[in-house]
Amino acid sequence: MPDTLRRAIDAIEPEMIETRHHLHQNPELSFQEEKTAALVAERLGQLGLTVQTGVGGHGVVATLQGARPGRTLAIRADMDALPIQEQSRLPYCSRQPGVMHACGHDGHTTILLGTAKTLAALRGEMAGNVRFIFQPAEEVVGGAHRMCEAGVMDGVDAVIALHGWPQIGLGQIGVRSGAMMASAETFEIRIQGQGAHAAYPHLSVDPIVVGAQVVTALQTLVSRETDPNDPVVVTVGQFHAGTAYNIIPGTAHLAGTVRTLSNETRRSMPDRIRRVVEGVCAAARASCEFAYHEGTPPVMNDPGINNLIAEVGRETLGEENVLTIPHPSMGAEDFAVYLDYAPGAMFRLGLGETAPIHTPTFDFEDRALRVGVELFCRVALRFLDDPASKR
Ligand code: NI
Repeated sequence: MPDTLRRAIDAIEPEMIETRHHLHQNPELSFQEEKTAALVAERLGQLGLTVQTGVGGHGVVATLQGARPGRTLAIRADMDALPIQEQSRLPYCSRQPGVMHACGHDGHTTILLGTAKTLAALRGEMAGNVRFIFQPAEEVVGGAHRMCEAGVMDGVDAVIALHGWPQIGLGQIGVRSGAMMASAETFEIRIQGQGAHAAYPHLSVDPIVVGAQVVTALQTLVSRETDPNDPVVVTVGQFHAGTAYNIIPGTAHLAGTVRTLSNETRRSMPDRIRRVVEGVCAAARASCEFAYHEGTPPVMNDPGINNLIAEVGRETLGEENVLTIPHPSMGAEDFAVYLDYAPGAMFRLGLGETAPIHTPTFDFEDRALRVGVELFCRVALRFLDDPASKR
């Protein structure tokens, strides 16, 4: 089987590279993935699959049914690009000013299309089903919720995904059991004070001074309230107030993000932040409005599915090419949402020497496409064959 599979992947490699370059040249921002979705739907249709389009936005879903009944594995790829002006000299450089596939979702989409094509040719030998989920709007952490609410995880026994990773060598993967990436949620604070002439501060309730105290007090949540062994990030990224140096404004607007690695801590953060914000404001005679926006949970990789990926990885790439990711990242990834519906795991696919993701010279490594396809295919075949692999 491995050799047959490799030959099948060899045969589609040139086409995959062409597809990836086409997607790279034509990136689309979150919630605008219309042409990308159309291309995906067309390719899946050519494989004889029944394709659903417009799922939770521009999402595309298709299920490959094997010859015999069995379990269902979902594989998810994200399709959206970022608002970055590409600064590369690649012949397939982005044609969209200010929009770029700087996170490699062009590679993820291509790998899942290649996986669908490879597995479709093997459906006669397959037991169970593989569902291909092409998700829009990952970068704004909105697409996964919408797709899951639209029912893409109905009947799914496990779910997997990958992310291309520059710090890992080509031909290598990174795996991690348990927490892999953080939750991400946002908050907004509007502080209402009392404006006055800058020379008469006693006539004011200065929202800038109150806001500065709020920012400082919020930092003590991580240093004094949460367990040092349980990582949390509280960052205030926006602080807007005032129009002139000699006017104390009436209001200040602050916004920030909260990252956690456990759902328990995640659930505790809105009340903690609200308590500090309202307490500081009350002490300073200001009033405030506070809003907390739910984003995405932490990515918690299921140990059984993670082991399956690692095992298949060691067999496919060699023992030394399956790396254990030492620490979780405080970055976020809305793949976490799928894990609320079924156990699963995400792994990192090594891209070798390339610029970091989310930078203007990043490019997905074409030679990694086939590695991703082979791993997805072999993990799928193993999962569907072996009920014990879901431990
Ligand atoms: Ni990404």
